[in-house]
Amino acid sequence: EKGGYETFMEKEIHEQPHAVRDTLLGRTDEDGQLILDDMRISEEELAAVDRIYVVACGTASYAGMTAKYAIEHWTRIPVEVSLAHEFRYCDPIVDERTLVVSISQSGETMDTLMAVKHARELGARTLSICNTHGSTIPRESDAVLYTHAGPEIAVASTKAFVAQITACFVLGLYLAQLRGETYADDAKQVMAELHGVPDKLESLLGTMDRVEEIARFMADSRAVLFLGRHVGYPIAMEGALKLKELAYIHAEGFAAGELKHGPIALIEPGQPVFVVVPGPDTPHELHKKVVSNIQEIRARGARTLVIAEEGDEDVVPFADEVIRVPHTSPLLQPLLTVVPLQVFALHLSTAKGLDVDQPRNLAKSVTVE
Ligand code: BG6
Repeated sequence: EKGGYETFMEKEIHEQPHAVRDTLLGRTDEDGQLILDDMRISEEELAAVDRIYVVACGTASYAGMTAKYAIEHWTRIPVEVSLAHEFRYCDPIVDERTLVVSISQSGETMDTLMAVKHARELGARTLSICNTHGSTIPRESDAVLYTHAGPEIAVASTKAFVAQITACFVLGLYLAQLRGETYADDAKQVMAELHGVPDKLESLLGTMDRVEEIARFMADSRAVLFLGRHVGYPIAMEGALKLKELAYIHAEGFAAGELKHGPIALIEPGQPVFVVVPGPDTPHELHKKVVSNIQEIRARGARTLVIAEEGDEDVVPFADEVIRVPHTSPLLQPLLTVVPLQVFALHLSTAKGLDVDQPRNLAKSVTVE
């Protein structure tokens, strides 16, 4: 049942190319127009949406944070990501032109379900991105966009995460198309690039031996920090979450630009820091800025574990380790950069002799508030 792998998590990490491919399947018609499943919201209603809330918990919330950059860029609709259990208590600004997008692998997370119900009471349109057919959250929503990651058994989410990001991209492109011609070409180009991601994931997964080795050497780490900027920021937080969940190591993800406003005080000789580096073609010189963050922490003795695109030589002088990912356009990078962080947490947990699939105190789906 584990398909020759030691753990479900390892199997599921290797199923990520399929998760992305299957989630994209059947999403475009012969004219290249995007199609969604189960739409009980009219196109007119969707075209009128002027605000989006994403509600989710844990890894699913990081998928939402990642997607925010893409959806806002393509649609120009403001997107707010709210932890589902905070949503009801923040007096959210919601009306019938608000689309509340819930993201949940199980479709049963009580916190997320309650947020969806609250959104409906306030008159919002609700759309569920979910991996489990027939589960409660899709049933309680006006529309559904299923991720096709297949059943996820390991408590820590991996393949559902990349599928959720993919589904959010499909949704963003669909909304962009509804809102006007100017985005149509963009949508086709992004879809074409998305279809190329599974092959890139496949080749990336074939290069993870060094990450496994690094994880083994780091089995007695007390704390690990993760830095990222732009779409790399939620990935830094996801990397930290994975390490907490699986290896019980104190871990924190930061926005790289925030470093100088506080977290740099944590850097002492030998402190391991993962840095997710934006691709060199990311706008606003973000690549250069993150490279100089690496330089700053290295100068203070940090052990820098750098995730960078193939061919990015600028990082080499300041990196103790360079972990390479294939090139993609900036918004799609998270689908690749998250992989080494998943693999790292998996092998560190294994090296500590822990139960990878069933970490202590956690449940796959939390059906209480
Ligand atoms: C948590 C799980 O309790 O629920 C996480 O441990 C998961 O791995 C989160 O990300 C949300 O779950 P779901 O099913 O709503 O995506």
